[in-house]
Amino acid sequence: MKLGVVILAAGQGKRMQSATPKVLHQIAGKPLLEHVIDCARSLSPVEIVVVYGHGGAQVREAFADQAALGWAEQAEQLGTGHAVQQAMPELSQADQVLVLYGDVPLTRPDTLRELIDAAGDGFGLLTVTLDDPTGYGRIRRDADGRVLSIVEQKDADAELLAIREVNTGIMCLPRARLEAWLAGLSNRNAQGEYYLTDVLAAAVAEGMDVQVRQPGAANEAEGVNNRLQLAVLERACQQRQAEQLLHAGVTLRDPARFDLRGSLAHGLDVEIDVNVVLEGHVVLGDRVQIGANCVLRDMTVADDVMILENCVLEGARIGPGSRVGPFARVRPGTELVGEAHIGNFVEVKQSVIGKGSKVNHLSYVGDSQIGAGVNVGAGTITCNYDGANKHQTVIADGAFIGSNTALVAPVTIGRGATIGAGSVVNKDAPDDKLTVARARQVSLDWQRPSKEKKA
Ligand code: UD1
Ligand code: CA
Repeated sequence: MKLGVVILAAGQGKRMQSATPKVLHQIAGKPLLEHVIDCARSLSPVEIVVVYGHGGAQVREAFADQAALGWAEQAEQLGTGHAVQQAMPELSQADQVLVLYGDVPLTRPDTLRELIDAAGDGFGLLTVTLDDPTGYGRIRRDADGRVLSIVEQKDADAELLAIREVNTGIMCLPRARLEAWLAGLSNRNAQGEYYLTDVLAAAVAEGMDVQVRQPGAANEAEGVNNRLQLAVLERACQQRQAEQLLHAGVTLRDPARFDLRGSLAHGLDVEIDVNVVLEGHVVLGDRVQIGANCVLRDMTVADDVMILENCVLEGARIGPGSRVGPFARVRPGTELVGEAHIGNFVEVKQSVIGKGSKVNHLSYVGDSQIGAGVNVGAGTITCNYDGANKHQTVIADGAFIGSNTALVAPVTIGRGATIGAGSVVNKDAPDDKLTVARARQVSLDWQRPSKEKKA
């Protein structure tokens, strides 16, 4: 059977107190709605339709690059049934229609797969049993336990309010009957809305089989209405990711103090200390160690690399056996070829650092090509910016740059060249020679002034 997915995302999300539409708020670095779309895609549906609200241009725009995604506008929010109705013209191939919610980000594909398979050409309903069911639609069953209907909180009497099994809102419906059921909805209820939940009673009246399933964890069905709920689901998502990584062989010194906001590909025996944040797409090779308080964004890190405490790395490649930090900043476009050292208070930007080269202390290396076996002394600055343009610094293999040197780009330091400490180098330095560009040291006979004695 062919699956179609409808994602309801027309709600305003007023309680977020935000200029950003609710479904664009992020969990684990990804908009709520994207979590739901990704989950839907993993079920291989023939079509996905997002129902968006008035002023939802920002939402559409955020997903403009997603292929095979249908959109249906619901200009006025007249209820969940009305919302699904808006999506029907976009569902031309589906046999089963799965209804999901743009603000319910943590539903597992396995849970939905089970629901869809159980539903078949009948009705599938995902419910949860809560200690406090306040606010949710209650599942009304007959004496034999057969589901009869869903009653919304505001339409329920005391007896129904005592029911703790509630509607998650997620259901799988037969396309062939859905159109007729939606057309038959009325808004004569406490909220004056067209309730999607009323299609259940219509299915039961037709004698249709209703299959009920429950998710493994209640948070799979939890929605986000305010920033407190957003924070709670962020932690739940982080915990889930951390558990997956632990099971996959990554050491997390404290899984509660680790954040992955994107994707991580990793090798064997990776060790990550506390308060590490990984963003975007991060690749860590075998035996990579990351010290406490590091942020890595869109990074590729090869085998046997040590990243010591308090480093910020972005958009770079760290070659095998290299050591970075503590307190290093590596900016986009940087490549450490391998076995290189970047030390404390060193910033590297848009530069290649060759095999075995060292920049160990207090330096800025920008727009540079550094060869193999180079030693860059403490306090070396590549002066790459003249106020208007950026220029390149080239340092050939085996060069030694003395401490506190300013390399005024564009400039080339030759193979095996040595630069005397404190030099300001604004002309190319030849291979194998010592180049010194600073005032020559002199010693003079001199009398220090002393205070005049008062008469
Ligand atoms: C709905 C269910 C309730 C269930 C609860 C689970 C109905 C009538 N009730 O209630 O049984 O326990 O979800 O959270 O379905 N939306 C639209 N357009 C609309 C109305 C809603 O897109 O016209 C979207 C909202 O953005 C939201 C979702 O549908 O993401 C649920 O709407 P909401 O009004 O919050 O439903 P509940 O009253 O919570
Ligand atoms: Ca509501």
